[in-house]
Amino acid sequence: MRIAVIGASGRVGREVVEVLREQGHEVVAITRSAGVDVYSGAGLGQALNGVEVVIDAANAATTETDAVRDYFRTIARNVQQEALDAGVRRIVVVSIIGIDAFTAGHYAGKLAQEQAYLEGPVPVRILRAAQFHEFTEMMLDWTTQGDTAHVPATRTQLIAARTVAEQLAALAVAESAPDRLEIAGPDELNLAAATAKLAARRGTPLQVEEVLDTSDPNHRAQADGALLPGPGTLIAGPSFEEWLDRHYPA
Ligand SMILES: NC(=O)c1ccc[n+]([C@@H]2O[C@H](COP(=O)([O-])OP(=O)(O)OC[C@H]3O[C@@H](n4cnc5c(N)ncnc54)[C@H](OP(=O)(O)O)[C@@H]3O)[C@@H](O)[C@H]2O)c1
Repeated sequence: MRIAVIGASGRVGREVVEVLREQGHEVVAITRSAGVDVYSGAGLGQALNGVEVVIDAANAATTETDAVRDYFRTIARNVQQEALDAGVRRIVVVSIIGIDAFTAGHYAGKLAQEQAYLEGPVPVRILRAAQFHEFTEMMLDWTTQGDTAHVPATRTQLIAARTVAEQLAALAVAESAPDRLEIAGPDELNLAAATAKLAARRGTPLQVEEVLDTSDPNHRAQADGALLPGPGTLIAGPSFEEWLDRHYPA
């Protein structure tokens, strides 16, 4: 099957590409670096030529609420339009568990993206995932100042990006599959505690502190568990400890 992967060089996108190629599918890798911009639409129509299924694993560069809503909504509309013109059979989108509870930032943008995709003519399958194990790496990159990382208080059920990628690939190729699915890792975790374990393996930063940033409109929902999976969620390993041992051996 000829499958386009938007965000093909990203954390989850590159895993999707690998999984699909291992299964013998032909992958059209879509990124700005490869000359296709799904926000402006430049090169998108040509890239979707002969494509049967699109997987959208793109990310936004901004977290400012209006900008991120505009970004995700626009790419959804562009992809829907070009997919229709190209005769694409379905679109698979990676989204995030619990985003209905959020009115700001990235999560609000993802909700706008889901809605825009669902308004379009091409059938859409949405996989809502928990935060990735790799999210702890992002936390250290984003929040470390000096020798301390400051991680927002968050209850989550981290999952490996590879596991999410395998499910995205399965949803892409299956003739029959649910239109909405949620997937999370095996254990509820405290994000700061998990990030501290990663920092300990890396040897840096020396400290990880949990913070409650009251200037962030999302702080209460994420601290109270709005990002946790509900009943019916697909639960899949590896656990965070197994992932850590594999990628950062002690
Ligand atoms: N990280 C998590 O914990 C998590 C959990 C659940 C769901 N998700 C969702 O998964 C998606 C992917 O996240 P990620 O962390 O894997 O992303 P990422 O590592 O930041 O990668 C983003 C990808 O999108 C491409 N891209 C960005 N803007 C583009 C544009 N205008 N046109 C074409 N390609 C573009 C990038 O390549 P270029 O820069 O070359 O364009 C890159 O390949 C996001 O929508 C996110 O909400 C993430």
